[in-house]
Amino acid sequence: MKLDFDKESQIFHLSNTHISYVFGVLRNGHLGHYYYGSKIDGPFQVAYFRKAVNRGLTNYLYEDDFSFSLSHERLEYPCFGTTDYRMPAIHLRDKKGSNVVDFKYVSHLVISEKPEITGLPCARGMGETLTLIVTLEDSLLGATLELTYTIYSELPVITRSARLKNTGDHPLVIHQLLSMNLDFYDSDFDVIHLHGDWIKERHVERFPLHYGLQSIGSSRGASSAIHNPFMALARKACTEHVGEAYGISLVYSGNFTIGAEVDSDGHTRLSAGINPFQFQWTLNEGEVFSSPEAVLTYSNTGLNGLSQSLHRFITDQIIHPKYKGRLNQILINNWEATYFDFNEQKLMAIAKEASALGVELFVLDDGWFGRRNSDRAGLGDWYVNLEKLPGGIGQLSKAVHEMGLKFGLWIEPEMVNKDTALFKSHPEWVIGDPERPRSHGRNQFVLDYGRPEVVDAIYEQLIQVLDHASVDYLKWDMNRNITEAFSTLLGERQGELYHRYILGVYALYTRLLARYPEMIIESCAAGGGRFDMGMFYYAPQAWTSDNSDAVERLKIQYGTSMAYPLSAMGAHVTAIPNHQVKRSTSLKLRADVAYFGSFGYELDLTKLSVEDKAEIREQIAFYKANRETFLHGDFYRLISPFEGDRNITAWQVVSKGGLRSILGYYQVLAKPNEGLKTIKPVGLNPHGRYRVSCMESPVSGSFLMNFGILMKPAFNGIESTEVHDGDYQSRLILIDQI
Ligand code: DGJ
Repeated sequence: MKLDFDKESQIFHLSNTHISYVFGVLRNGHLGHYYYGSKIDGPFQVAYFRKAVNRGLTNYLYEDDFSFSLSHERLEYPCFGTTDYRMPAIHLRDKKGSNVVDFKYVSHLVISEKPEITGLPCARGMGETLTLIVTLEDSLLGATLELTYTIYSELPVITRSARLKNTGDHPLVIHQLLSMNLDFYDSDFDVIHLHGDWIKERHVERFPLHYGLQSIGSSRGASSAIHNPFMALARKACTEHVGEAYGISLVYSGNFTIGAEVDSDGHTRLSAGINPFQFQWTLNEGEVFSSPEAVLTYSNTGLNGLSQSLHRFITDQIIHPKYKGRLNQILINNWEATYFDFNEQKLMAIAKEASALGVELFVLDDGWFGRRNSDRAGLGDWYVNLEKLPGGIGQLSKAVHEMGLKFGLWIEPEMVNKDTALFKSHPEWVIGDPERPRSHGRNQFVLDYGRPEVVDAIYEQLIQVLDHASVDYLKWDMNRNITEAFSTLLGERQGELYHRYILGVYALYTRLLARYPEMIIESCAAGGGRFDMGMFYYAPQAWTSDNSDAVERLKIQYGTSMAYPLSAMGAHVTAIPNHQVKRSTSLKLRADVAYFGSFGYELDLTKLSVEDKAEIREQIAFYKANRETFLHGDFYRLISPFEGDRNITAWQVVSKGGLRSILGYYQVLAKPNEGLKTIKPVGLNPHGRYRVSCMESPVSGSFLMNFGILMKPAFNGIESTEVHDGDYQSRLILIDQI
């Protein structure tokens, strides 16, 4: 891992054993981008990097010179205002109203410590890292721009961010300050991204890049379930296991944009950062503004290779090291078991069954506070509802602990209902234009977390509860997005609202974790509405989706795995008919899908038959025996629910060290009169000998990976060959190295 800087050519080369990232100073002092991809060694043909050809009708920077136009350069951090018409990375306004900016290289610095970004989550710099900070200046404007690049010793990853300082004597207005920009010489790519909505999050879409701008983003105040802050550009021939792909993720939970723009030369610009729509930030003299961090990942081992690097990056660099290797607790959550209708007896009965079955954590969901008997009241009044829980959370958590379970509690601290003391005493703390009607979402309104006093007030209320109970786990929910974005505090600076809001959310996370360092937070936003690296910086796991139907989860978990590790994905077995889609599937299928995540149950265990309870006891024992593999093994996607006839999904985890591998094979609908099929596991040692749960005698890794495992049809028109036939089948195949 090193930085080579050639003084004469002013070219920077960041590299480790996997990748090279090369850029340099252009004739006009701006930075040009030259290369990001598999490791390349010097000496470089520098003239290639600088090569420009005379072009026809365009705009040129220098008189009598028809070769230097920024339109035709590949740029590292494009400025708005001169000869480049593509999406800029930086767009400002100065005191005279000019938007033209011109940041030129001044100096650079290399450090071994990974810098933090004040107020924002970012990679932690665990292990060996190298950071390059390049300083640029626009002296006329009175501003410096620092571009920060970090490279990690074992990962094909570069993280980037930008930091603007006003060094002049008048305020500047920032319209756009993106986190990264990457220009390619071609556009021979497909775009892959994760789109969706509530209860259908992170579905995979892949389409060919076309001329012009194609972008995803959010302007809702949260990264959102609509688009996840992740995009990949994959070579056309790139499959799960072969070929080149680039990934961009943002360590940010608010409004974002990620875009790919193909210009008239067929070159591609990939950029990402805070969404400029609805963003405007006044930077006064001496102030600094930092962009969120972007994570650039490169793979030459297909999309699965890209995902595995992202999984490792999140586990090693984003999630707090105190959770490293953590075996997520098997939980029971009472939400789908009781909704708001519970009392202490009911909860204790569920906890008792859970404890007897081997569950480890009891999570009390929504409804324990204020007058929260429905979703019309309570949010903002964070005191215990003594009618439901006369002994308070203190007594309940004690009783749960006495059963040998850990105790978890639900909160939704960013919201308020109208019918609460908080709303009545501080209507100005609620986001909305006081002269216009405020829209509600689930009967609730969003608190203005850009106001420090709001964060203080919620913090004070929450610690009154948490200080007087023994809470091991907090589920932090967020069930609606911002509308009528207006803060009574901000006056003309309303463009700052969304970013200030998310900084306030991060500030509350930071304060709660500082006060309760042992407490684990699960993030949740009506399921997966804020499933991003920003959140994982604070909360090592998230509720993946409010949709817990096993068939729907195949798509949701498959898509989520593109960019996030299994240890971060909450996955619960729930009751049938399923509450979201009313589908009934076997207990086996529900568990076979949920094992590939942070496993738990969310149903009324007191209402189950003796047979179901016996099956659950076995499931829990199986998950415990294989938990490390499920949570921290290498994950491989084998058959996609988004491709082909979409009837089969298959995936696999391989334990660290490779001794155990578990393959999940799922068939949604039964097919008539089917023949034999094979499924080929991956990630095995070709020379190793393996015992396979569905084979009679041991075979080699090379046999398994090349010939495959024969899958009998469940029903071939004459006989059933499986216990579970008909629709919604699953098989788990255990592959053990001998
Ligand atoms: C949405 C969450 O995703 C659910 O799990 C549950 O906590 C409800 N909110 C409670 O209101």
